[in-house]
Amino acid sequence: MCGIIGFTGELDAKTVLLDGLQTLEYRGYDSAGIAYYTKDGIKTVKSVGKVSCLREKIDQVEKIDQAEKSPSTCGIGHTRWATHGGVTDANAHPHTCGKVTLIHNGIIENYHELENALAAKGKVPCSQTDTELVAMLMDSCYEGNPMETIKKSVAQIEGAFAFCIQFADEPEVIYCIRKQSPLVACHTENGSFVASDMVALITYSREYFVLPELHIAKLTKGRIEVSTLEGKAVSPEMIKITWDMAAAKKGGYPHFMLKEIHEQPDALQSTILPRVKEGNLPDLTADHIPLSIFKDISHVIITACGTAMHAGLVGRIMIEKLIRIPVSVEIASEFRYQDPVINEKTLVITISQSGETADTLAALRLAKEKKATVLSIVNVKESSIARESDYVLYTHAGPEIAVASTKAYTAQLACLFLFSYQFALGRGCITEKECADKIAQLLHMIAAIEETLTLEKVLEEAGSDLAKAEDLFFIGRGMDYALSCEGSIKLKEISYIHSEAYAAGELKHGTLSLIVEGTPVVALATQEKVFAKMISNVREVKARGARVILITNGRPEVDASVFDYQIALPKLEDELVPFTAAIALQMLAYYTALHRGLEIDQPRNLAKSVTVE
Ligand code: M6R
Repeated sequence: MCGIIGFTGELDAKTVLLDGLQTLEYRGYDSAGIAYYTKDGIKTVKSVGKVSCLREKIDQVEKIDQAEKSPSTCGIGHTRWATHGGVTDANAHPHTCGKVTLIHNGIIENYHELENALAAKGKVPCSQTDTELVAMLMDSCYEGNPMETIKKSVAQIEGAFAFCIQFADEPEVIYCIRKQSPLVACHTENGSFVASDMVALITYSREYFVLPELHIAKLTKGRIEVSTLEGKAVSPEMIKITWDMAAAKKGGYPHFMLKEIHEQPDALQSTILPRVKEGNLPDLTADHIPLSIFKDISHVIITACGTAMHAGLVGRIMIEKLIRIPVSVEIASEFRYQDPVINEKTLVITISQSGETADTLAALRLAKEKKATVLSIVNVKESSIARESDYVLYTHAGPEIAVASTKAYTAQLACLFLFSYQFALGRGCITEKECADKIAQLLHMIAAIEETLTLEKVLEEAGSDLAKAEDLFFIGRGMDYALSCEGSIKLKEISYIHSEAYAAGELKHGTLSLIVEGTPVVALATQEKVFAKMISNVREVKARGARVILITNGRPEVDASVFDYQIALPKLEDELVPFTAAIALQMLAYYTALHRGLEIDQPRNLAKSVTVE
């Protein structure tokens, strides 16, 4: 989703802005722009396409206009992911009106009212964006005092926003304010920096703070002042970055996605090991999760989006199996419109890699309003979801850059498993001995992940076969159905091949009519309990000409005529196979997309962090 960078200080602002935007490319965008102060005033350059296109355009501008070569030490930059208005130079940010130049992440919900109110004053925007309306609104409120202008303007704005604003009268100062959309900032001896994501700041500082909602940050060369809308100074808490830049770079892999797939053994160790105490028992005390929270829960709702929601589908099976209380999994974007049944005995688990997904955050807020206890499983420290939850289990997967979520998903599963074990133990549903056995198996699973990664060759072969398809199916039962959903989204988002996940037993109620000669079907048959039934379903599709990629737990005896490829995962307890199966499905999607010659890390139309509804 849109990215923001701002800088004022001793360095060359254009370089800081362009490098920052490049670092934020992984969020997904379709145009980019910067505004920077030179001795001739604030200049703006914008371009559709990649940051490299923007760089070229700036070079051209500089060739024509020598004044551009003069140093600029203050500016703001943006990568835009179109919401209001098409992908055009005019719609790209920054937007200027009179003395106000600004960039914006988020969505202004009452843009129509704002547009009408401005039109009544004879003001007409040049672009089709909600952002330009805010620049116009701010300019119309401006009487020489930026703080007052921002205060007056945000009082009239509904929706989610993160703004960085330059006023022509104070061209070396950046003002920032946010609501829901993230903004982080830091000050160093080189100056002051602000960004939508700390990945853009890590070259300059290992400490940053999150700008509190509806507070104004004033960035000058010498410092950053943060105050409430009423002007009261506040000092936000500084957060230390614990991982290094190498973790956010490709480290020799052709794509972040492949690197992140291969990082899963390490990521899982970081997620699991600190939460296992002597005797192989779960220990969530460092996460400040008291045993008392397990006592009065009558039901659990897991809510999340996309891949994080698919982790929830596996979590539901685990919690229901071990604790025997009802669990439902709700798509976060639907949750708040369904009048869900929630009370003080409900435990709501939200799951999010970024911790900034707008729909998940809104679901969390609804749950809190209804007095539920909210526990979140989050990767990004101090993200909005983490901050607003009662309890947080961090996944410790390290930065995930590729849009397709891989290591965050398996780390989410690990948190859900540890949590279920602790929950079951806390409620007396399993004995310490049973729990220790389960954790020993969970630790053993990490080694099985290493082994799964060695299946890359056969998965690449199967991927090259799938690359020719335009439609395919993922089928499974129980846990394997949950995994089918994940396999399908992974393939769709990066290979652009249409696929559907189906509960294998449901095929004959309609979908079987779509299986014809050559239709690829990825069949997950990893669960002993339903293995024979699953193989019958595989026979059903094979008999209609399907090309079958069969994924099994170990190498059970299967008639070789029912599959074209067999991916035999290292043998594990059935309930732990989601970890290894997920990795196989991730590699299958990766190699399919690779064979189609696609971009992989930044698929079209998608963004890493979806901070709008
Ligand atoms: O940051 P989140 O985990 O909240 O993101 C949720 C989804 O947008 C995300 O999982 C998405 O489905 C992935 N791109 C799938 O790989």
